[in-house]
Amino acid sequence: MGATVIVGTQWGDEGKGRFTDLLARDMTTVVRFQGGHNAGHTIVVEGESFALQLVPSGVLYPHITPVIGNGVVVDLGVLLREMEMLQSRGVDTSKLKLSGNAHMIFPYHQELDALHERHLGKNKLGTTKRGIGPSYADKSMRTGLRVQDLLDEKIFRAKLEVVLNSLNPTLSKVYNRMPVDADALAETFLNEYRPKIEPMVTDCITLVHERLEAGDEVLLEGAQATFLDLDHGTYPYVTSSNPTAGGACVGSGVGPRYIDRVVGVAKAYITRVGAGPFPTELFDDVGEHIVDVGHEYGTNTGRRRRPGWFDCVMMRYARRVNSLSELAITKLDVLDQLDTVKVCVGYEHDGQRIDDFPYHQSTLHQVTPIYEEMPGWKTDLTGVRTRPELPSEARDYLAFIEEQCEMQVTLVGVGPGRKQVLDFSAE
Ligand code: GDP
Ligand code: IMO
Ligand code: MG
Repeated sequence: MGATVIVGTQWGDEGKGRFTDLLARDMTTVVRFQGGHNAGHTIVVEGESFALQLVPSGVLYPHITPVIGNGVVVDLGVLLREMEMLQSRGVDTSKLKLSGNAHMIFPYHQELDALHERHLGKNKLGTTKRGIGPSYADKSMRTGLRVQDLLDEKIFRAKLEVVLNSLNPTLSKVYNRMPVDADALAETFLNEYRPKIEPMVTDCITLVHERLEAGDEVLLEGAQATFLDLDHGTYPYVTSSNPTAGGACVGSGVGPRYIDRVVGVAKAYITRVGAGPFPTELFDDVGEHIVDVGHEYGTNTGRRRRPGWFDCVMMRYARRVNSLSELAITKLDVLDQLDTVKVCVGYEHDGQRIDDFPYHQSTLHQVTPIYEEMPGWKTDLTGVRTRPELPSEARDYLAFIEEQCEMQVTLVGVGPGRKQVLDFSAE
């Protein structure tokens, strides 16, 4: 009995949402522990697709208590709209809890995100422009406003004034923009949002620990991914939080002794949105094919995702920094029509072979992947449900990844639907 963590092992959009939904079947509580509405987690149930940005992916089950943990940065307007969307589609959101320690994203964070990107010019990061970086920056500067600040008008206004005292001159003098109108902003947050948000604000530490102490299973749902991690990713082309397993502890208030399972989610290939190094990136027809068949366009920004081959060097690093206990692979079906498939097993740099992820970023920019090329299976996998039903080439592909990454694959997605999964642990 304890906590299970779900983390992305690549650059995001691996299918964390669909596996959170799957594992939540046997849990009581699902906690989102970091990130904000830069995330887009898709769950497909009987042909109906739900794209979630802030509400934890367990929400589709009536037995689940979904919790937005202290590590998340929350745009309250987006959260309320997402709840309305879910309610209008028959999903009960009344159990949703929100940590009072979560920081809020304000419209000015979003504006600053766009301004920073514009000023970076050709060095821009390709952020989602959701205000994530500026909001976490305020948190680190200790000038951020937390959800609990909304519950007391005096505190809210006082803290807002402190932020705006330094922000407004920057907006007008550095960026030539209109200063933020404190009264208009306070009006929206205190009068419009607060009455709807207040009933959800909960002491999430006590709630989650009471569940754990009662022997319940708790799921900690990550957003983004290992290589977008502020400390462990391809800095500066990262997000501003810690999507790795350590971040799950910090962002939920659950200590490491409770974590008994860490599920790493990976696509059978890789995609990346936004800028940054990507050793196995494909610029050819195979890449186009993967984007087309895999519908590789951002869930919430609509941007085309950059495609590439599965990279075992990255995966071995992800195994270490997350203490992964197992691997869950999605989108194996997207490779169905290829004649051959490639897996990166190492890098070459300056005539030397590298097996560990380079600790120096400039090395990563210069490496050439070493590939193992394997025959494709040329079979539609979308109806397959067990390992013996898989064509031998697909079984070999998974076995090769297991051997190279020194981890067992326990779940395999062969389509976006809830039932389009092979659960090896049940076989
Ligand atoms: P997340 O951010 O990690 O939750 O992933 P996203 O939802 O952003 O992106 C994953 C996309 O792939 C979504 O559109 C899912 O519906 C879809 N998907 C997930 N697993 C599979 C799979 O096994 N096969 C196929 N074809 N699509 C999948
Ligand atoms: P999920 O949870 C893919 C990327 C952005 C950009 C970088 C920084 O759906 O996997 P940010 O707005 O966070 O400051 O942008 O991180 N990024 C994601 N890429 N999936 C995500 O979330 C992402 N969240 C942020 O594209 O490169
Ligand atoms: Mg996504």
